[in-house]
Amino acid sequence: MAGEKNRIITIANQKGGVGKTTTAINLATALAAIGERVLIVDLDPQGNASTGLGIDRRNRELSSFDLLIGSHGVAETVLPTAVPNLSIIPSTMDLLGIEMEIAQQSDRVFRLKRALSSDEALSYSYVLVDCPPSFNLLTMNALAAAHSVLVPLQCEFFALEGLSQLLETVDQVRRSVNPRLDIQGIVLTMFDSRNNLAQQVVNDVRTHLGEKVYHTLIPRNVRVSEAPSYGKPAILYDLKCAGSQAYLQLASEVIQRERQRKAA
Ligand SMILES: Nc1ncnc2c1ncn2[C@@H]1O[C@H](COP(=O)(O)OP(=O)(O)O)[C@@H](O)[C@H]1O
Ligand SMILES: [Mg+2]
Repeated sequence: MAGEKNRIITIANQKGGVGKTTTAINLATALAAIGERVLIVDLDPQGNASTGLGIDRRNRELSSFDLLIGSHGVAETVLPTAVPNLSIIPSTMDLLGIEMEIAQQSDRVFRLKRALSSDEALSYSYVLVDCPPSFNLLTMNALAAAHSVLVPLQCEFFALEGLSQLLETVDQVRRSVNPRLDIQGIVLTMFDSRNNLAQQVVNDVRTHLGEKVYHTLIPRNVRVSEAPSYGKPAILYDLKCAGSQAYLQLASEVIQRERQRKAA
């Protein structure tokens, strides 16, 4: 679309523990490292993206909750991170109460979309939204605001089962509140090459979903899981590890898809 200034990519999967937050943090860091101006919006009350980027809870006076209730905008809620070019709107447990706050409002699904249409939000080239593990009002706000959705799938036996439900939800969102919603891609995470079943899952997912699946496989990597406890993206904690390298590769695939989309 002409005149589009930022790309809003929502990272969603209603299952917990599939790598949403890890992907949000490391994809954002990789994009920032190549010079993009990136904003993460943490929409999970757990606040793992905020913690993983070293944002102390005491510094979360304003958060994505304030953004959604409309009391404050992006400019006031955003915080810098230790990664140059990467900022975050943190979350707090207040988000657990968001349904109570806005459920009666007719624009309840469009709160994030409206907040992200401000000039400050448009100054970022990428906005990544990290979702909670459910289809609640928070996830619906994230899907309504997005240009595209990026789905992390853990390489495990039940991966495909939840996926059909997710794709159905994306279709519903497209038909109701966000016709432009695209699938950026599906990323296979925590791949363990020593596990025969994992390879089978990869084959199945590729057979079913073809082109939508990124070529990059994110390996299960202990350095990736250690990094958040230091408040750092894996890419800063250990750039050379296989997980960091995979996230850099994923970023280049994401950018390539964006270029193709613009050219189309
Ligand atoms: N590639 C990986 N290798 C090893 N551990 C990982 C990897 N990706 C995620 N993890 C770990 O798995 C757990 C769940 O990941 P997370 O990104 O928090 O998932 P979600 O946000 O979907 O709940 C976390 O403890 C995280 O550190
Ligand atoms: Mg998470």
